[in-house]
Amino acid sequence: MKIEAGQVAVITGGASGIGLGLAERLARAGVRLVLADIEEGALNAAVSRLSGTGAEAIGVVTDVSRSEDFERLRDRALAAFGRVDIVVNNAGVVSAYGPLWEATLDDWRWVTNVNLWGVINGIRAFVPLLVAQGSGHVVNTASMAGLAVIPYNGVYNATKHAVVSITETLRGELDDCGTGVGATVVCPGIVPTKIHEAARNRPGGATEHEATNAKQMPKPASNAPSAALSVENVAEQIVAAIERNHLYLATNPGSFTVVEHRIARILEETAAPLR
Ligand SMILES: NC(=O)c1ccc[n+]([C@@H]2O[C@H](COP(=O)([O-])OP(=O)(O)OC[C@H]3O[C@@H](n4cnc5c(N)ncnc54)[C@H](O)[C@@H]3O)[C@@H](O)[C@H]2O)c1
Repeated sequence: MKIEAGQVAVITGGASGIGLGLAERLARAGVRLVLADIEEGALNAAVSRLSGTGAEAIGVVTDVSRSEDFERLRDRALAAFGRVDIVVNNAGVVSAYGPLWEATLDDWRWVTNVNLWGVINGIRAFVPLLVAQGSGHVVNTASMAGLAVIPYNGVYNATKHAVVSITETLRGELDDCGTGVGATVVCPGIVPTKIHEAARNRPGGATEHEATNAKQMPKPASNAPSAALSVENVAEQIVAAIERNHLYLATNPGSFTVVEHRIARILEETAAPLR
């Protein structure tokens, strides 16, 4: 779908990082914006900043884990702008690094509620609208952790694999039904944002482990972190992926080796019994 002035984009997690970078990029193209975020202060600041540049933008305080918040978000977007063209299910969080057997039930609930249910709720609230109008594009933000594995980050990995799978399925169905609606799954590598301070929005606040673990990056291993990319670079790539209707967008080229290793191992170990 060609990005054009006057279109309307809804972006969850739009008050910070990749979501805000994409909002700024779309605003420069004349797209009208509905930013949704749980962090009210940051959301208001983001909307004022965008409005200050002449963009048309509103903010709607939204907890993506709540389906009723998404229904309100859709209604507010339609009330403000009368249509929705692009839906970006981008809000995401990560809990403290550690072996899977030490992840608490609360870690699972929080990360799954935001990363997985946030995408499910976004699809349920907005895709019927896009299908009915016969146009639009859905962007779901997964991660390279959805195509391979970040060691000691199993809860996050699981949710991001699910986001990849959901988007693959959604895209197949949208195409198969001839809806005219596109879908892209974005798989960033490392992008400097506030993701490692995600516990700032955790219900009940950061755990003790998170307070000490917050800035810890993935443990060095064969899949060591690749070079970081700016949010501006990632935003530019997302716009290109929407316009070309690409299903997959892996933004950081240096991180592809982890996917290659995974696929090579699957093929090798699958073929082994036949030899
Ligand atoms: N930064 C990276 O290196 C990286 C890499 C791969 C994937 N990602 C993904 O990119 C997406 C954006 O993250 P980011 O890096 O910009 O981080 P960020 O923390 O800067 O932005 C995330 C935004 O989501 C919001 N949010 C958190 N919980 C929410 C909730 N329950 N409801 C609504 N909003 C909520 C936060 O307030 C914040 O504004 C996430 O899905 C993340 O998993 C990031």
